Amino acid sequence: MTTVEQQAGLVGEGVDRVDGPLKVTGAARYPNDFGFPELAHAALVRSTVSAGRISRLDTSAAQASPGVLAVITHRNAPTLGHAPDTFLSAPPPPLQDDRILHYGQDVAVVVAGTLEDATAAARRVEVDYETAEPVLDLHDPRAELLIDPYESDVVRGAAEAALASADVRFEATYTTAGNANSPLGLFTTVAAWDGDALTVHDSTQWPGGLRTALARVFGVPESGVRVLVPFVGGGFGAGLRVWPHVILAALAARTVDRPVKLVLTRPEMFTGIGHRTATEQHLKIGATQDGRLVAIDHESTTTLQMVGDNLEPCASYSATAYACPNVSTRDRQVRLNITWCNSMRGPGDAQGNFALESAMDELSYELGIDPLDLRLRNYAEIHPQLGLPWSSNALRECYEVGAERFGWARRRPEPGSMREGDWLIGYGLAGVSFFWFQKPCQATATLRADGTALVRSAVTDIGTGTYTVMTQLSAELLGLDLSQVTFELGDTDLPPGVVAGGSGLTAGLGSAVHAACRNLVRAFLDTVRDDPTSALAGCAADEVSVGRGRIHRTGSPEYGESYTDILAAHGLPELSARGASAPNDPQELGLAPAGPFGARFVEVRVDPELGLLRVARVVSVIDAGRVLNEKTATSQIIGGTVGGIGMAMFEDLITDPGSGRIANATFGDYLIPVNADVPDMQVVFVGRPDRFNPIGVKGVGEIGLVGMGAAIANAVHHATGRRIRSLPITIDQLL
Ligand code: MOS
Repeated sequence: MTTVEQQAGLVGEGVDRVDGPLKVTGAARYPNDFGFPELAHAALVRSTVSAGRISRLDTSAAQASPGVLAVITHRNAPTLGHAPDTFLSAPPPPLQDDRILHYGQDVAVVVAGTLEDATAAARRVEVDYETAEPVLDLHDPRAELLIDPYESDVVRGAAEAALASADVRFEATYTTAGNANSPLGLFTTVAAWDGDALTVHDSTQWPGGLRTALARVFGVPESGVRVLVPFVGGGFGAGLRVWPHVILAALAARTVDRPVKLVLTRPEMFTGIGHRTATEQHLKIGATQDGRLVAIDHESTTTLQMVGDNLEPCASYSATAYACPNVSTRDRQVRLNITWCNSMRGPGDAQGNFALESAMDELSYELGIDPLDLRLRNYAEIHPQLGLPWSSNALRECYEVGAERFGWARRRPEPGSMREGDWLIGYGLAGVSFFWFQKPCQATATLRADGTALVRSAVTDIGTGTYTVMTQLSAELLGLDLSQVTFELGDTDLPPGVVAGGSGLTAGLGSAVHAACRNLVRAFLDTVRDDPTSALAGCAADEVSVGRGRIHRTGSPEYGESYTDILAAHGLPELSARGASAPNDPQELGLAPAGPFGARFVEVRVDPELGLLRVARVVSVIDAGRVLNEKTATSQIIGGTVGGIGMAMFEDLITDPGSGRIANATFGDYLIPVNADVPDMQVVFVGRPDRFNPIGVKGVGEIGLVGMGAAIANAVHHATGRRIRSLPITIDQLL
């Protein structure tokens, strides 16, 4: 059997989304499009303070409100189990005590026959608090400090000594604001019980994780819990965890013995589904006069909620971005009375990259070396920490192709030297080395008597194009037309699937689909092995190829048989096979697993009198290994870039310093980029198929965001001479 790599070029055909017609006709069903007969509705009551205890709770007015079925608080809620920690810890189950740890914490859920009645009654729940002084500031001496919470700190060589003796030293502090994930689809849970069996529609990125969690929380068998999510409505990381409102919807349904729907309001989306942590990062870099890095010292402190964890290292990426002999990276977290910190597209890397790539730009000025040249002089030819060759790395090509497409050579080095009318023009760039992430996954593939195939796994398509690329991949591996393959997902009755997170879904799921399809071809070969009339009798899997609905001897297409003929000849209605994937071991393979790489080139225009900042052009060159679908992959980079513009110039989740209230929890107050903020964007893919997984892919879901912060800040400096070390870059910083 020929491999995918032999069959195809680097970039797969840019086919349209297979689920496109469903989406544009409104037939795609998102979690809040689902209901059940006798559906009741739930509304949340949230804490108005950020620290302390509930001192008084009066639910009598709410109970007496029209249509109310139940008011559940910590006083009458049953004891709930704790969901198991995965790569992210689960928030503790809600309504278990009177403690308040953050603003917007759920303190009651009201269930009624209609949403209007539930919402009206929720306003009549009276709650008083014994308020404690909240810990809200990163520098508050009362705040608990966690050292190396992810066990990811890196010590290579002796950074301190190397800094002390370096020709040139550079040192600065960078900060980034908290950001809110803000998917368009309001997070929704619809829950229905039948005895101890629970069916849930939910805006999750990981149906399997949610199923396990709900079984544990409610103490019911996991086999009876079914999670359905054919379409998500956006996630960006917000759907990775099992949030309290999901548990409350299921608890409400169990309490009133009716199916219940809970849809978060937009303000609740700002407090209930996590946010990108704020950071303060201190960087020291030492270099020789000719621009060779001799030391990097990166210490990052990020915010963290009061309980549980948040896997979001920022500094450790600086250990693998460049060839540098002496490195110290230190990640720290500070516990505050804030809403949950949680992954948001490019978690950790987005903030860490801003600091490192800004500092590299600053160093380039100190040395008088072009910023692009400085990066190439310190290029990491092998993985700097593991000392192994990369499974793939085309970062150099990203820089070279990007510089060419962007016209980097036209850049005049002196800041403020490029102008057009009132506008100062700035060119900036950033390199990106994104992390690698892969988790085990399973899939099944079935060929039916009509020659069509059904391929399945309990994953989600969070809008990234999973339905489409897995249909393409399956069709290619089985030798079928796209129209003959259906990919099914979003149902925990399907084989256990990987989380749609960490840009790791396509590699994990694609590898499982690869295994399932290969096993299916083997199952057909097994069927005809002893059949003297078959042209494939006795053939081994590595002796055949597939195409046009047939298996044939490689190099001899005339010696083959169609799937449908084999099924018919053997009286079989269909054949199925299962496939499983797991990440390879770097040492065994002798390869360092590589995430995607990228170079971001940005042109900004700044009106110095008005403090106006516009991004004029972005050229992104990405090494994502093999790209299964150029169209959907390009969309991922464009979408990520818009998110990066948001992080760089707009998004700032503001916590009121006295009360801990989130002060801008609406789309009127929390700024995100609109079309007018988004310029012409060019996306180019370069590189070779990656060698760490059998289908050669690397994730594209997150890298599009990373690097935009530094590229824009570096361009602003080039335009104006002003160095901005704090995101978002706002008008007041430019005046
Ligand atoms: Mo992503 S932040 O791992 O959904």
